[in-house]
Amino acid sequence: MREHGQESQFDGLVEPYRIKVVERIELLPRKEREEVLERAFHSVTYIDSADVFIDLATDSGTTAMSDQQWASMMIADEAYVRSRSFTRFEKAIQDVVGYPHVVPTHQGRAAENIVCEVLVKPDDVVLSNTHFDTARAHVEHKRGLALDLVGDALWDFDKEAPFKGNFDLAKLEAALDRFGRNVPFISITITNNMACSSPVSMENIRETKRLADKHGVPILFDASRFAENAYFIKQREAGYADKSIADIVHEMFSYGEGCWMSAKKDANVNIGGFIAVKNEDLSRRFQERLVLYEGFPTYGGLARRDLEAVAVGIREGIEESHLRQRTHQVAYLGAKFEELGIRCSKPFGGSGVFIDVKDLYPHLSADLFPDVAMGCDVYREGGVRAAAFPFSIKTVDEKGELLSRQFHFARFALPRRVYTQSHLDYVVRTMAKVKASAAQNRGYRCTYRPEVLGHFFSKFEPIAG
Ligand code: F0G
Repeated sequence: MREHGQESQFDGLVEPYRIKVVERIELLPRKEREEVLERAFHSVTYIDSADVFIDLATDSGTTAMSDQQWASMMIADEAYVRSRSFTRFEKAIQDVVGYPHVVPTHQGRAAENIVCEVLVKPDDVVLSNTHFDTARAHVEHKRGLALDLVGDALWDFDKEAPFKGNFDLAKLEAALDRFGRNVPFISITITNNMACSSPVSMENIRETKRLADKHGVPILFDASRFAENAYFIKQREAGYADKSIADIVHEMFSYGEGCWMSAKKDANVNIGGFIAVKNEDLSRRFQERLVLYEGFPTYGGLARRDLEAVAVGIREGIEESHLRQRTHQVAYLGAKFEELGIRCSKPFGGSGVFIDVKDLYPHLSADLFPDVAMGCDVYREGGVRAAAFPFSIKTVDEKGELLSRQFHFARFALPRRVYTQSHLDYVVRTMAKVKASAAQNRGYRCTYRPEVLGHFFSKFEPIAG
């Protein structure tokens, strides 16, 4: 099949699909939305999906699957051992990613658990451009240290740099010099989700490989949004404009020993994941843990129909028309936010639009929870759910000294193939109301904060006016 949009002058803002199944969504009246916020302890993570009109909390597992994916699920072979579905899954991943040994898992963090259990010992130091929350938690759970070595360009929302997800190579070198013998692997997150879903350039991946080789340290990719990263390389990096996404993907992965992936992102499925590596012995060690935690190596905690959906979805995930429209959707929403005077991370990245919450609520100090204020205001004004959290990293300076940094951002994540442009226009109208009323929000006080994953499960009440 000819790749959609490859030869036509395809406009990225037009959805390259038509809608065959619809799901009803309902906007509750404002008064009811206010009651919902009360019941939900003023935290968007406690709001029922049924009460949300447009849900931009995450792009993970929220994809609308294609007719081809649903069709493949109907012909799945549910055998436990080496089903036809597993064979198709394995082949699709080998073809797209290029690593020969494939270990299925039920989602990304299950893969992280296995990778960390096999590779991370107490006092080890895992170096990443930026760990995703769960990857960091798994390293720490094995009593290791997770360091994030993303470049400082990330912190400057106004300054455009095409690859803000890159490693700061000076920091990487300093960290390798200091911790080299205790570094079990370097992980490159593509795209760099916590760094505003910014991409990593091929040049940066190549240079990371050069430093890794110098210290004899292997590279593993967190590949959850690998296809978006490849698309940004094609768009933004010299020398890649005429290469296919498939070729760019192969080149990226050629610099690593393997990867893990939450297939709930760029493989366009509602559940699934995998680890894929070059080395057979390493894959055997992962498989042994897999049997303990996930299931037999030919299904890894998934129904075989889920494997089928990944096999089809990962190939659809690298179609250029899909990537063009998806990244244009993010950029469209971001540009409209900017027109409202909302400060966004630029250039726009993969999973969604990231905004600077403190800029929207300059009168609220961190202890008055501007993040919570934004989450509540966006829901109250329009029934829209977005995620807003403080984000902290542990990093090093150029001399290898440890330091922490924190900032407050909100992510308006776009589920794949779910919302149309008029939905996005509605979100923009909602944000105009949020912006107009932000100064009236007096902030929140925390009434409950659990020790584990406090940013998800805390409860709040508004400061009385
Ligand atoms: N790696 C990255 C880069 C991620 O963004 C996520 C999940 C994971 C790993 C973990 O995968 O959820 O399948 O266990 N990110 C979601 C998000 C939750 O909203 O960004 P998982």
